[in-house]
Amino acid sequence: MFIDERNFHRIQRLPPYVFKAVDELKMQARHRGEDIIDLGMGNPDQPTPQPIIDKLVEAAQKPHNHRYSVSRGIYKLRLAITKWYERRFDVRLDPETEVVATMGAKEGLGHLVMATLAPGDVVFVPNPTYPIHSYSVVLADGDLRAIPLGDAGDEFIERLEEATKTVWPRPKMLILNFPQNPTAAVADLAFFEKIVGFCRENQMMLVHDLAYADLCFDGYQAPSILQVPGARDVAVEFVSLSKGYNMAGWRVGFCVGNPKMVNALVRIKSYLDYGMFQPIQIAAIIALEQPEAVTREICGVYQDRRDKLVDGLNRAGWAVDKPKATMFVWAPIPEPWRGAGSLEFSKHLLREAKVAVSPGVGFGQYGDEHVRFALVENEHRIQQAVGGIREMLKGHRGA
Ligand SMILES: Cc1ncc(COP(=O)(O)O)c(C=O)c1O
Repeated sequence: MFIDERNFHRIQRLPPYVFKAVDELKMQARHRGEDIIDLGMGNPDQPTPQPIIDKLVEAAQKPHNHRYSVSRGIYKLRLAITKWYERRFDVRLDPETEVVATMGAKEGLGHLVMATLAPGDVVFVPNPTYPIHSYSVVLADGDLRAIPLGDAGDEFIERLEEATKTVWPRPKMLILNFPQNPTAAVADLAFFEKIVGFCRENQMMLVHDLAYADLCFDGYQAPSILQVPGARDVAVEFVSLSKGYNMAGWRVGFCVGNPKMVNALVRIKSYLDYGMFQPIQIAAIIALEQPEAVTREICGVYQDRRDKLVDGLNRAGWAVDKPKATMFVWAPIPEPWRGAGSLEFSKHLLREAKVAVSPGVGFGQYGDEHVRFALVENEHRIQQAVGGIREMLKGHRGA
């Protein structure tokens, strides 16, 4: 027939899904009755705090909340977002012009890029990175340029400067994410100051994804890019309720900062959606009003799991650093498997240690020497995963 998926222009630009190979092996093993510890997808396993659920239930009982809502988010939610930013970062925002609620950071990011890019516009994205940072550009017909992330510091900025000199047409946008998925790299305010300076100088829009704002360990606090004076002349920032409040399935996030970029997202969304279900918006206000102890407790669970995993791997002879933030451990593939690449090693871990992880190459070619553990099973299960890995490593040494 005339319908030929090879003609689906945007779909054709998307590569095969790398994580699928490990997912399929995981499902096959489970069907065989094997107990696989799944540290693959970053999908929070803990419950949403009760007061947020209670508010959702209460709001859902009211018929006037069943109507179409407001695409950009109801005013009270936008106001709650500005109060959260002020309390948290001492950054003041205008709820009318500098805030838009989104159905998660992912949806917002994808649509912002679509709303602001023209076909062929050059965008710099670190590599490895969370896939939507790259594929939002691909879906918008932009010209994606991968900048090796390495350690997020001066060398990364030098690579950006070098790339800017050699790329034509001039890059329009830079998309960053700190604390970072998948590497757990963190940034400090001095780094953000340099980044904002770089974007101002080169007239580049800056999109910062702060999805892991609440998951910071050992006293580290993730800064907001908007703490840099003048940042909102060039930048917007995305925040998500998925991780800090265990609300991944609720699909709540927001974008704040540069009014023109925010307005572009408001406009494109007004054509595409009617806003989140209003009870979810109302419950999201309650989430943002929770005392800090609530997110601290959620974060503490990840920190304990991190310690269990990283200490265990190190004791088993796999040298892995402790991340300062996120819900991930980014582990360099040990010898003798490094040369085989992250997909093969992930399959090996699944077969031999009964542990599912994400192959680093799924986040970009510069991720291929690592695998990512997501801390989404309890400590007992993580201990079990470490046991399986220890046996796998021992088996190899003994071989
Ligand atoms: C860096 C980053 N941004 C955004 C998201 C998705 O956030 P949301 O659930 O708000 O769409 C994730 C989820 O893993 C992420 O790692």
